[in-house]
Parts: sequence; C-alpha cells; structure tokens
Amino acid sequence: SATAGPGRGALIVFEGIDRCGKSTQCSLLLESLRKQGVRAELWRFPDRTTLIGGLINEYLQKQASLNDAAVHMLFVANRHEKREEMLRLLAGGTTLVLDRYSYSGVAYTAAKAVPHLGAGFCRSVEAGLPAADLVVYLDLDPEQSAARGGFGGERYEKVEFQKKVRSQYAALADERWLRLDASQPAEQLHGQLAAAVRRVVERAAAGEPLGQLWD
Ligand code: TMP
Ligand code: MG
Repeated sequence: SATAGPGRGALIVFEGIDRCGKSTQCSLLLESLRKQGVRAELWRFPDRTTLIGGLINEYLQKQASLNDAAVHMLFVANRHEKREEMLRLLAGGTTLVLDRYSYSGVAYTAAKAVPHLGAGFCRSVEAGLPAADLVVYLDLDPEQSAARGGFGGERYEKVEFQKKVRSQYAALADERWLRLDASQPAEQLHGQLAAAVRRVVERAAAGEPLGQLWD
C-alpha cells in the first residue's frame, strides 16, 4: 500500500472561494484514502477551536471587529500554532487533507487591496510552514457559488468580494496546482483528483522531502 514506504504522509490542500465545494471534496477524499489503507486526517483552517481561532470566528461572524492587518495576523498565527503538530503527523506517515491553508491567507487578504497587505507581504509571513505537496483548486464563478443554497452570512460571503478573491487565486496559482471546474457534480470532481492524489501520496511515502513555503 502507499503507506508502506520509508517516508512520510502527504500534505494535500483544497482551495477556492466560499461555497465552491471544498468541504465535500475533503470528506470524499478522506474516505477514499482511508479505504485504500492510507492513514489520513482532515483539518480545516481557520481552526476555530483554538484561542486564536475563537477570535477569528468572532470576526467572521461579525461579533467582533478587527482591522485588516490584525485579523490577517490571526489567520497566519492560527497556521503557525499548528506547525509542529502538522510536521509531526506528516513525519509519522499520516497524510493531511487541509480544507484551506496559506493560499487562502494570501488570496483573501490581498483581495482587500490594502496597500501594505499585498500578496508579497502576505506570502512572507507564511514562510517556514510546510508547503503543500498538492494544491487542488476548485474554481467556480462566484455567481454560481452564491446560488448554491445562499451564502451563510459570514463576513466575506459577498459576490463582489468573492470575485476579487477568485482573481487573487488566479494570480497565485502556478502550474503545479490542480485546477478543477467546481461546477461539476461532486462524485465526478472527486474522480478527477484521484490520480494526482495517488501520485503525491506515493512520492511522499517513497521519501520525497517535504517542501517549505515558498519553495
Ligand atoms: P471557511 O468558510 O472555510 O470556514 O473559512 C472562513 C473564511 O475565512 C472564508 O471566507 C475564507 C477566510 N479565510 C481568510 O480570510 N484567511 C485565511 O487565512 C483563511 C484560512 C480563511
Ligand atoms: Mg465559509
């Protein structure tokens, strides 16, 4: 099996605008990895269960206001506080499926177009976190995501802002990202990422070193 190598677990990240289907795909992937005998965990960022995550949650639910720099730093801190646990799990052979990661940090804050919070700055504060072995980008027109049962009323769930986030993702994506058309049915989408996932899980198990942001 893919877990039998001398190596580590893979870091697989799902990205995309709100309501593009990330959580569904993460669950489907976790289930299929486990069926194949791959030890795997599903995490999401923000991790709202930590102290820092609690502040982020209040901000997103519009119960607290914070300026753009402050909330950006909280999202970043919320990843850095999980760094050692991520590294430990990966080193121990567990594959991590992440529902959002550093790429959300860059895309959402850069979409605000605050001069001192550009993409370059946003990338810099992610440095030292483990790099994804695979970024699966679920691309969807914000008009379509908004039509999916409606937005949940969180702070960023507005079509105009989501369009800016989508442009930021387009700027951030490189040729290593697996970009998929997220308007397809969930099972069909899931089928389209199986091969790429298998490849990175096998490479990680075979001992390919884990990268660091921003290799
Ligand atoms: P969620 O809908 O996946 O729970 O994410 C909550 C919101 O937070 C979503 O609108 C994306 C946004 N976000 C950031 O602005 N910066 C970040 O670093 C992350 C991880 C999420
Ligand atoms: Mg959301």
